[in-house]
Amino acid sequence: MPTIVFASPKGGAGKSTSAVVLATELARRGAEVVVIDADPNRPVSQWAGRPGRPETLTVLAETTEASIIDDIEAAAARVPFVIVDLEGTASMTVAYAISRADLVIVPTQGSQLDAAEAAKAIRLIRQQERAFGRRIPYAVLLTRTSAAIRPRTLQHIREEMERNNVPVLNTQMHEREAFRAIFSFGGVLQSLNANQVSGLDAAMKNAQALAVEVVDLLKGAARERTEVTA
Ligand SMILES: Nc1ncnc2c1ncn2[C@@H]1O[C@H](COP(=O)(O)OP(=O)(O)O)[C@@H](O)[C@H]1O
Ligand SMILES: [Mg+2]
Repeated sequence: MPTIVFASPKGGAGKSTSAVVLATELARRGAEVVVIDADPNRPVSQWAGRPGRPETLTVLAETTEASIIDDIEAAAARVPFVIVDLEGTASMTVAYAISRADLVIVPTQGSQLDAAEAAKAIRLIRQQERAFGRRIPYAVLLTRTSAAIRPRTLQHIREEMERNNVPVLNTQMHEREAFRAIFSFGGVLQSLNANQVSGLDAAMKNAQALAVEVVDLLKGAARERTEVTA
């Protein structure tokens, strides 16, 4: 079943945070989710080591360049959602994971320098499409944006991406304390204490919007595939 890969050569772009937020939201809705923690620093495994991981979510940490394709295929045969969190460099592991993706999400903060890093990830996706002779759907996810203000630079980056036919998710990952807090305390947004973490409600709505949009995109991509083969 669908494999969602979080990729961007930029460290700190929001890959691991967004991957865990999406994974926990899907798991909370009852879906079985496997997260493949393909970053040697193992950020997702550290989160999973804290209390409160949903029972329907498992993390696979023992993946390597040699095993990642088999690991993705084995997980995808078993559960409805496989999410891969990658390290922030270009490596064979990153290329292999992208080659097996049903959707690559490229998290990007809203500056021109960050957008240039996103463009590198997109070039790699397009290379993998040619190497493997298949279309690999992808979308940019703007991260750490302000929920209150819409800076001109962000608007400019969005428009530039649209001009270049780079799909950008409507949902942004806003800068929220709650998205950091799940890595400190473990568990899901719903298990955080609203008295201790500000903006929790808004963070939950943000996570829901992300999950809904990603599931819709995957359905659209699956429909396209059936139409092509039919
Ligand atoms: N939406 C967000 N709101 C608040 N903090 C965030 C958000 N996304 C990422 N961060 C913070 O930014 C830093 C980098 O995020 P991370 O997800 O580890 O990026 P990456 O996996 O791309 O290296 C971390 O300190 C994380 O807590
Ligand atoms: Mg990371």
